[in-house]
Amino acid sequence: MRHSKKDLKTFYVRTYGCQMNELDTEIMVGTLEERGLTRTQNEKAADLLIFNTCSVRDLAERKVMGKVGQLGRSKRRESVIGVTGCMANAKKDSLFRKLPHIDFVLGTNNIHDLNHVLDDVMATGKQTFRTDQQFTTELDYQGAVRDDKVKAFISIIRGCDKYCTYCVVPYTRGPEVSRELTDIVQECEKLAGNGYKEITLLGQNVNSFGKDKPEMKKLFHDLLYEIDKIDGIERIRFMTSHPVDITRELMEAIRDLNSVCEFVHFPIQAGSSRILRKMHRIYTKEQYLEKVAMLREIVPNVALGTDIIVGFPTETDEEFEMTYDVLKELEYDVAFLFAYSPRQGTPAMRWVDDVPEEVKQERLHSLIELQNEITAKKQQQMIGKTVEILVEDVGRRDDQTVKGRTRCWKNTIFPGTKKDIGKLVKVKVHGYNHQTLMGTV
Ligand code: 5AD
Ligand code: SF4
Repeated sequence: MRHSKKDLKTFYVRTYGCQMNELDTEIMVGTLEERGLTRTQNEKAADLLIFNTCSVRDLAERKVMGKVGQLGRSKRRESVIGVTGCMANAKKDSLFRKLPHIDFVLGTNNIHDLNHVLDDVMATGKQTFRTDQQFTTELDYQGAVRDDKVKAFISIIRGCDKYCTYCVVPYTRGPEVSRELTDIVQECEKLAGNGYKEITLLGQNVNSFGKDKPEMKKLFHDLLYEIDKIDGIERIRFMTSHPVDITRELMEAIRDLNSVCEFVHFPIQAGSSRILRKMHRIYTKEQYLEKVAMLREIVPNVALGTDIIVGFPTETDEEFEMTYDVLKELEYDVAFLFAYSPRQGTPAMRWVDDVPEEVKQERLHSLIELQNEITAKKQQQMIGKTVEILVEDVGRRDDQTVKGRTRCWKNTIFPGTKKDIGKLVKVKVHGYNHQTLMGTV
């Protein structure tokens, strides 16, 4: 037996990857606190360690393997170690071979099993894993314990049915499962009652909301109309959107609903239609540009975000140039730029990863440089404008400043105190530092 049946008193949890993982961590924190454990930031002193992991790129996995592997060499024998999240689903019980000192592996679709798994580990001392392919049980979302008191993540749909050829998510998180609309609305009402002002609706593809539950007769834009009615919720954000599923109704909801922020994360991934086809993105560059044009026509002040992958198998210099040109032409407000990383189990894994690493890095850096220029230009254009900020926290260096975001997701710092947290204030922008705007009230 590896563990004596002593009580677990403290836990430490570390989150890697996307907001969905952050929310899953908040739910696990709720479960563990309910169980009587106390959270600690001191990893060395904790009785239970949980690593909520990400598999989307190789680097994310290597970070976790390095971190958890190192614990194995220095582990206090009595602490219980668990690996949760996407890596748990991607590697399942094979993780026990690579990390023999871990006690449990709990997949993204088994967060609700945390208590059972802990009971098993404590009772039997045996390594335990649960990694279902599909999300089935309604999770107790309302038990989530959030650090943030102003803004909250809300899961509305889990999994992904799109099967982009590079992406591991459909295999780690399984098919799409929407949450009941009434359940989501209830959670938002409760959060509003507790003083939350901003909610971000999360899903790998929020625009698919409702399609797997036709009996609900509600789609994503219907959900926005419902949440907009809730008193106290000042801002609604959502991510991520697959370009194919962004409808006119959704664009009109962004235009017409006061609480829905004018920011859409709208990943193009590549600027060449041949590469897009090979990625199985199911749109051409032209179709994507048409959607953007339509969105910008319906919501003229909309801010756009994107994700881009460079160095996808067989991507030529000319095809990369097409991506570069699209980035230049569309002038996104935010761009997350990545070098292609082959993932086990994905269709693209079967193709030779033939773009040399140096070329990928060169392409990546030229996009980063271009986006930096665009960002600087956009920041410059903000000077003199008055923006609405939801104050989220005090500034980093002292308590004389506060920070928050504009409706379009731009970070902003200005003079203020702790008492301003949670308020909506009008701020006049007078400067910027990289990604952050500076202003005065
Ligand atoms: N390699 C590089 N980037 C990837 N992404 C997803 N899978 C991969 C991969 N195998 C990027 C996509 C996606 C974002 C979350 O991560 O751009 O939109
Ligand atoms: Fe991955 Fe594509 Fe689904 Fe996004 S839409 S999670 S990139 S498969």
